[in-house]
Amino acid sequence: MDLPVLKENPDKKTDLRFVLSAIVIATVIFILDLQLPLGVADGVLYVALVLIGLRTHSRHFIFWSAICGTVLILIGFYLSPEGGVLWKVLANRALAIFTLWMTTILCLWQVQTGTKLQEASDKLEKRVQARTKKLAETNELLRRESGFVELHKDIAVASNETKSIENTLEYCIKKICAHTGWPVGHLYLTSERYSLQLVPAAIWHLDDPDRFETFRKITEATPFNAGEGLPGRVIAKGKPVWIIDVTKDPNFPRANQAKNIGVKAGFAFPVRIGDEIVGVMEFFSSKAVEPDSKLLEIMTQVGTQLGRVLERKRAEEETRHSHEQLRNLYRRLELVREEERTRMSREIHDELAQALTALKMEISLLDKKLANKDSPLRSYTQMMLEILDSTIQAGKKLVMDLRPPILDDFGLPEAIEWQAIEFENRTGIECNVEFDSNNDFVLDKERSTTLFRIFQETLTNVTRHARADKINISLKDCDASVTLQVRDNGIGITEEQISNSRSLGLLGIRERALVWGGKVVIMGVPHEGTLVTIKLKR
Ligand SMILES: Nc1ncnc2c1ncn2[C@@H]1O[C@H](COP(=O)(O)OP(=O)(O)OP(=O)(O)O)[C@@H](O)[C@H]1O
Ligand SMILES: [Mg+2]
Repeated sequence: MDLPVLKENPDKKTDLRFVLSAIVIATVIFILDLQLPLGVADGVLYVALVLIGLRTHSRHFIFWSAICGTVLILIGFYLSPEGGVLWKVLANRALAIFTLWMTTILCLWQVQTGTKLQEASDKLEKRVQARTKKLAETNELLRRESGFVELHKDIAVASNETKSIENTLEYCIKKICAHTGWPVGHLYLTSERYSLQLVPAAIWHLDDPDRFETFRKITEATPFNAGEGLPGRVIAKGKPVWIIDVTKDPNFPRANQAKNIGVKAGFAFPVRIGDEIVGVMEFFSSKAVEPDSKLLEIMTQVGTQLGRVLERKRAEEETRHSHEQLRNLYRRLELVREEERTRMSREIHDELAQALTALKMEISLLDKKLANKDSPLRSYTQMMLEILDSTIQAGKKLVMDLRPPILDDFGLPEAIEWQAIEFENRTGIECNVEFDSNNDFVLDKERSTTLFRIFQETLTNVTRHARADKINISLKDCDASVTLQVRDNGIGITEEQISNSRSLGLLGIRERALVWGGKVVIMGVPHEGTLVTIKLKR
């Protein structure tokens, strides 16, 4: 009989127990058979051995139990006491063997079916386990993927927000730390002069600042060239780099600078604008961690996204720089203009006015001589004297207009007062001047000139546009700042006129004040007037 390979019972003790009980039962039945005369159907009792085999689930056990039973039935035929007719005795023994083997076959079937059932159930269980494992893996993958998508989304939103660049970068580093569960994140930027050198930026995320204080200090004092350390390797390779344990890495200079820098695993990736690497973001864990290629792949994309933030930073810096340059140029222009005005006014005052006065004296002498002789030419000298007088007056006005000496000699309050009186005389618009100062008014020449020129520009605007008949001027002097206010009672400037980029006069007023970090506020109320406030810091 072809017996299938049976599953061995792992429990050897149980096996032994079954074997022993089978031996005992077989012995008892055999002794009983020897006592009873032939013709008694006691051979059938050997079925008990097969039934014990069924309990063991072992096909070998059942088979060998049946063999033993058969052999003992046959031996019993020869050794048992005589009894009955021979054919009946033979039939009795044959029936016992038949019953034994029928039971054996049934038991073998039962065991085989049970084994098959067991195998099928094992197979099923294995498949269920494999599926469950795969499902768990897929779930984990899905969780990671959705984490990455969430991170991408957060960074994209942050990149487009109008927060300051530093805040945006800090926020993104914090998000990556939260996503990876790594406690340290930092940004290196390429040096402005040399794109293959990295300088540490003060942009960090530290879960526990005290714990990583040493590492932060070392990092902020360590620039890197291409190929050096973790960030340098990113620059040299142009792609992300992962170090399982920086303390054991031969190319991690920061680990050599202190005994315990508190970090172990590290990864870094390039931040790019197009093909150009403009920075390197690095992250550290306090444990050694095996590389995660999927994470590095995602970080490459994040690097490109963050490049846009740095591009914005660059554009902002360029704009700020060109604004600064423009403002410096404006400042220089104003300075040169003032110097030129001063020089011209001095030349007119010292040279031209002197020459005119000398000429006037000469002509006066000539006039006197002609008067003595009663000459008809005197009418010419009289006319010349009149022309000379008006030329001298015009010269004086020119000197005052170019740069009133009063501004240099007496200071801003007096210059404003003089300008207000002159304005009132010239335009008929009433001017009230008010000073508010606890101490002596002291303001440097440049700021005084700026305020004076703004004041003149404001007065010009009043004559040209306000249709006012009264102006209140106030000059307030605080410790930290000087404030000049000019309020007219005219038609009132409109919001649109204030914000119009073609209002170049107002733009000039603002620019002049900005040179000194000052502020100009212009407000208008229809039919009530306009208020211009200029505040300069000392
Ligand atoms: N005090 C004021 N009252 C009413 N409107 C005013 C006053 N000052 C200015 N404005 C309005 O604001 C506009 C802009 O003034 P701004 O000084 O910039 O230009 P402007 O005086 O027209 O030309 P300029 O460039 O020669 O100064 C003026 O055209 C005028 O309509
Ligand atoms: Mg103007």
